[in-house]
Amino acid sequence: MSSSAEKSFYLTTPIYYVNDAPHIGHAYTTVAGDVLTRWHRQKGESVWFLTGTDEHGQKVMRTAEANNVKPQDWCDRLVEEAWKPNWKALHIANDDFIRTTEERHEVRVQRFLQGLMEAGHIYEAKYEGPYCVGCEEFKLPGDLIEGKCSIHSKPVEMLSETNWFFKLSAFVTPLLERYKNNPETCEPTSARNEVISFLEGGVTDLSISRSTFDWGIQVPWDKAQVVYVWFDALLNYATAVGLGDPVDSEGGKQFARTWPADVHLVGKDILRFHAVIWPAMLMAAGLQPPKKVFAHGWLLVGGEKMSKSKLTGIAPSDITDHFGVDAFRYYFLRAIPFGSDGSFSWEDMSARYTSELANDFGNLASRLAAMVEKYCGGVLPAVAQDATLADALSKTVSNADVAISTLDFQGGINSIMEFCKRVNGYVTEKEPWILAKDDLRRSELEAVLYNTAESLRALAVLLHPVMPISTEALWISLGAEGTLGKLSDQKISEVANWGQLQPGTTISKGAILFPRLPDVETNG
Ligand code: MSP
Repeated sequence: MSSSAEKSFYLTTPIYYVNDAPHIGHAYTTVAGDVLTRWHRQKGESVWFLTGTDEHGQKVMRTAEANNVKPQDWCDRLVEEAWKPNWKALHIANDDFIRTTEERHEVRVQRFLQGLMEAGHIYEAKYEGPYCVGCEEFKLPGDLIEGKCSIHSKPVEMLSETNWFFKLSAFVTPLLERYKNNPETCEPTSARNEVISFLEGGVTDLSISRSTFDWGIQVPWDKAQVVYVWFDALLNYATAVGLGDPVDSEGGKQFARTWPADVHLVGKDILRFHAVIWPAMLMAAGLQPPKKVFAHGWLLVGGEKMSKSKLTGIAPSDITDHFGVDAFRYYFLRAIPFGSDGSFSWEDMSARYTSELANDFGNLASRLAAMVEKYCGGVLPAVAQDATLADALSKTVSNADVAISTLDFQGGINSIMEFCKRVNGYVTEKEPWILAKDDLRRSELEAVLYNTAESLRALAVLLHPVMPISTEALWISLGAEGTLGKLSDQKISEVANWGQLQPGTTISKGAILFPRLPDVETNG
């Protein structure tokens, strides 16, 4: 990371519970974060992308106990054997990975808490009420359906403890003002409305410690209590970048470069923690709340939120083993509007793989390489420019940039794939195989090949954040690295400058980007 004071675009995913291995719901959030941060990097911005794991609390502790393993050993094993390898396999380019059992986190959480205590935001009182260990959440009677948590469909537990409380209710007015005056701070609109009506319904103070188990961070002034797991977990976003460190230390400088976070990506299940509790904690400490909390929808199975606890979890590898990593990264963002729920189906994924990735994109690349080989000995001909294509590309780039920068991944990918279709149409319409039969039309033939290659260059750059593997293969096949440099260094703002591929470059055939797949047995 550079030592300049330039503010980085700072994006976070939730930190995931390590009670189990990741499923495609977790991967959905993380891939979205990866695509957005890769896009911003290609816009030439300094970027910081954080993910990690949430390791304290009863949910993780009980899973470890059920497996006869100490909680720390359980977490170490899951992080090293399941979570980190999973993100690596999906080509997630996070800059940091925070674990809440790390010392850097624990020390900063304790210091933060001590500060809130000294500033008068914390008091001792008795907590009595229902608690869902699955959500790790204190529930209100209205949250329950027949005594069960509405998300986990499991009976809640009744707590009665003397705990430390955070004066959350004191922040209702500033939070309401924030969401009413700055709509971009909580998106989409449905999420913001939910938060506003929750705040208007009245908010009680929050118990932020537990005394009946010890798997957590000790409350600094009360060794008999551990910090409530959500209070501990939310702080990860700030502890990972140096919260509370002296301004001229490494941590202090990193904090200045990253805070406030630009986007916290979360699933809608954890919106209130992020849009109510977290900004209130920051306000209490005199720190700025995040610029945006974006709540996306759920991946559904049988109409319900897919989850491991309901045995509906699908591992990312179940899908990537068949379709490959790039198709996985592409599919969910392309098929489901970000912010809405969506169901996963093998049939839909298979259909899109074949029509959009294999036919529209992969096939275009293969056709170009085959034609350049056949008609030009594998060497790219002179620069040409088709005004209609160049114009379509300019519009594509600006539409895609607006869409992706506002987290409309579907809209962004759609506009890029529309351009891809258009290039296919161009090739079909120009019929280079007919032009090749007539020596007098040689320059027309060469122009079609150059324009197609140049369009593929742009597609490689624009699709790189979504599909880093196949676009890299395409970049190599276009021989672009030698003259234009690394694909990940190509700037979005320059993609539409026509004529970048160098005539005389060797275009190689390379492997097929999206091979035809064998049929799979599906059970729906
Ligand atoms: N540990 C907390 C988050 C703390 S953040 C300070 C937690 N962890 S979790 O493991 O349950 O993962 C939550 C996140 O995973 C959700 O917010 C969402 O981003 C993602 N998803 C989990 N299941 C999902 C679906 N079925 N569909 C889409 N996303 C889902 O909550």
